[in-house]
Amino acid sequence: MDLKQIDQYAKSIIVEAGKRIRNAFSYNLVIETKSNANDLVTNIDRETELFFIEQIKAFDPTHKILGEEGMGEKVESLDGVVWIIDPIDGTMNFVKQHRHFMISIGIFIDGIGKLGYIYDVMREDLFNAVAGEGAWYNASPLRKLQPVNIEESVIGINAHWVAPNRHIHHEKVIELVRNVRGTRSYGSAAMEIAFVVSGKLDAYVSMRLSPWDIAGGMIIAQEVGAIATNLHGEGFDFLHQDTFIIANPAIHQELLKKYIVPYDL
Ligand code: IPD
Ligand code: CA
Ligand code: CA
Repeated sequence: MDLKQIDQYAKSIIVEAGKRIRNAFSYNLVIETKSNANDLVTNIDRETELFFIEQIKAFDPTHKILGEEGMGEKVESLDGVVWIIDPIDGTMNFVKQHRHFMISIGIFIDGIGKLGYIYDVMREDLFNAVAGEGAWYNASPLRKLQPVNIEESVIGINAHWVAPNRHIHHEKVIELVRNVRGTRSYGSAAMEIAFVVSGKLDAYVSMRLSPWDIAGGMIIAQEVGAIATNLHGEGFDFLHQDTFIIANPAIHQELLKKYIVPYDL
């Protein structure tokens, strides 16, 4: 299998999809809701996923596609070549802010993450990685993450988790917010992961993410030494939803032990 050829092709269709999304602002967005009133999807999310499916099948019809909008076939295993795609991560930002939304793609071969992409559509910025070969921000190599301590770290976390909630001990999150240098919340998991792998954030935490939110980012994470697990410290299952934390290796354990503690531990 020619990984370089797949990599080049993936980059070319990501850039093309980005152009189409930017052009879509000049016509009508049809906005619908999914699991709840704040879970948005638009015609452009669906059209972009369909575009990827058509392009990937034209490239190699044996490749499988697991996409958020479910426009492809049902993928029940990671055997063979599987593209895990979020056509627009941060749909609410797309609709309301017209910025801060990403195309996120991870390409797996027999269950092993090989190629990862997070593309900031409005900035035309690409974070990508080839497993075992390195990671890049546009043409520049991304460095291995340098150690940080909690007091100097900036953490991506949603304000929800500072208030009483059913997932994690919120008093410990309050302590975290007091101890760190700063917190941020951007509204796109892929963007927050891209920021962790490039050292702009030192960790990002979420109570529920899906494979397409993180697939691209996980492959980049490996190349720069970021640690990504669920909140029990276990590896993420790429066929199901789970809790999620990605962090600089110097603070991942401390975050899980002291600050981000699920009720079921
Ligand atoms: C969402 C965004 C958001 C995260 C949600 C995701 P979508 O993805 O990444 O930041 O908090 O859990 O579902 O729906 O915009 O693709
Ligand atoms: Ca998403
Ligand atoms: Ca999405």
